[in-house]
Amino acid sequence: MTASTHHPGRADTAIRTRRTDRWWLPPLLTFLGLTAFVVYGVVRVFMNKWYWVGEYQYLAPFFSPCVTGGCVPGASHFGQWLPDLGILAPPVVVLPFVLGFRLTCYYYRKAYYRSFWLSPPACAVAEPHGSYTGERRFPLILQNSHRYFFYAAVPVASVLTYDVVIAFHGADGGFGVGLGTLILLVNVVLIWAYTLSCHSCRHIVGGRLTHFSRHPVRYWMWTQVSRMNARHMQLAWASLFSVAFADLYVALVASGAITDLRLFN
Ligand code: FES
Repeated sequence: MTASTHHPGRADTAIRTRRTDRWWLPPLLTFLGLTAFVVYGVVRVFMNKWYWVGEYQYLAPFFSPCVTGGCVPGASHFGQWLPDLGILAPPVVVLPFVLGFRLTCYYYRKAYYRSFWLSPPACAVAEPHGSYTGERRFPLILQNSHRYFFYAAVPVASVLTYDVVIAFHGADGGFGVGLGTLILLVNVVLIWAYTLSCHSCRHIVGGRLTHFSRHPVRYWMWTQVSRMNARHMQLAWASLFSVAFADLYVALVASGAITDLRLFN
């Protein structure tokens, strides 16, 4: 574990770190949290069922938009323009964009570089690797595509927003609100907050301006995004948790394991 401390240009010491606090706790928690999410996501996607509650029009976020011929009746708000993909569940359409957005996110990069690659595991703690090339070479140079994944994330969040509007649906076919509606609503608010607090979004709305005073609207937008951007890490975790929780709730209602708590109709 001391290889990199003997790397040219670095302090030549046999001690891996002089930190005496529990520096290993954040990367460990990050590792456990991200692993749990990935395991849940994989299991859920390959389960390929219990994602639609027809009575209240709840669509599980992991399965939205449902555009393949294999989607259950009623779940396809945007049509079925792909054939039944069998074991490749409906999310296969947006999964590359959602995953790409999160994987190239500036916060998640820090999170998994530290917790999975130990590169480095924490500030002032030597990493086990002997060399460092940053994000200048393939494949990590692809992290620079993050801005384009942001462009893709906006329509994905819009689709989830539409799903929430549909979910204000009562058992008699009119307006209704259930606990599921509120869970889907909170989830989409967090998804938007995470998406709009993106560093790329901040640069898109306010970057490369020489004079903010000449662009008051963009300056105002930049100020709002900057405020949220300061909470990007928290929003990354909150939205990750909420999307899994919303998905689980819909799955439990759709499977009949629980009944939805109805607040109105
Ligand atoms: Fe995290 Fe863009 S930096 S989503």
